[in-house]
Amino acid sequence: MMHLFKMKGSWDAGISFFYDHIVASGIGELYDDVVENFFRELPAGCRVLDLGCGSGQVSIRVAKLNPLAQVVGIDLSPSQIARAKKRGAGLPNLSFLVGDAMNAPQPNESFDLVVSLASIKHWPDPVRGLREMRRVCRGDGRLYVIEVNARCTEEEARDFTDRWRHVPPGTRAIVRWHFRRFVAGQGATADELAGLMREAGMGEVYVQIVPGQPLLIATGLPAN
Ligand SMILES: C[S@@+](CC[C@H](N)C(=O)[O-])C[C@H]1O[C@@H](n2cnc3c(N)ncnc32)[C@H](O)[C@@H]1O
Repeated sequence: MMHLFKMKGSWDAGISFFYDHIVASGIGELYDDVVENFFRELPAGCRVLDLGCGSGQVSIRVAKLNPLAQVVGIDLSPSQIARAKKRGAGLPNLSFLVGDAMNAPQPNESFDLVVSLASIKHWPDPVRGLREMRRVCRGDGRLYVIEVNARCTEEEARDFTDRWRHVPPGTRAIVRWHFRRFVAGQGATADELAGLMREAGMGEVYVQIVPGQPLLIATGLPAN
């Protein structure tokens, strides 16, 4: 329950179920867009890390679209990783493991592309996790951080949360209020996200406010 308000820490089985069935199942197009824009036609042997991968929505799409790439998803939550493994079973170029973004269990410069979607607000020390993203990324690689825009409008929050599934019609206004107050409230503004990435040592940081969506998409290079 604490995650509904404070956002920090490992996700238990209940919140993992909630997120999968209500949120993730409703925003498939968003995952599709991210993967289509940043992870299509990857070269053979390209290594991709999805840090805070949850139940594998991005990792699985990237692995399916790029059978010659190698994709690894890491999440602190054993229940999220169990869901991801089940969903991604049979894809030979995909693996999932439980791990902490604060101390990623990978060697330096072991990935070409590193992505984190909607996870950094859950980390106890986002800059430390962003440094880990940088550390495991090759010098000529690229980093992507996607997070909820703390300055999202009521309309963007409405459009986004109205896509969630299984929400009783009479509770949509409460869900939207919760999203803006607690989820977006613990997200970041574009300037804050750029600042966190630069503080972590990333270079050429560019943050895009996604039109019509309560989201920021940031790109950066591992060296500044
Ligand atoms: C909102 S979910 C997003 C999951 C996935 N990226 C997606 O977009 O579907 C946030 C995830 O961050 C994970 N998380 C929280 N703290 C973490 C940490 N320190 N290291 C790795 N993952 C963490 C949670 O367990 C949860 O699965």
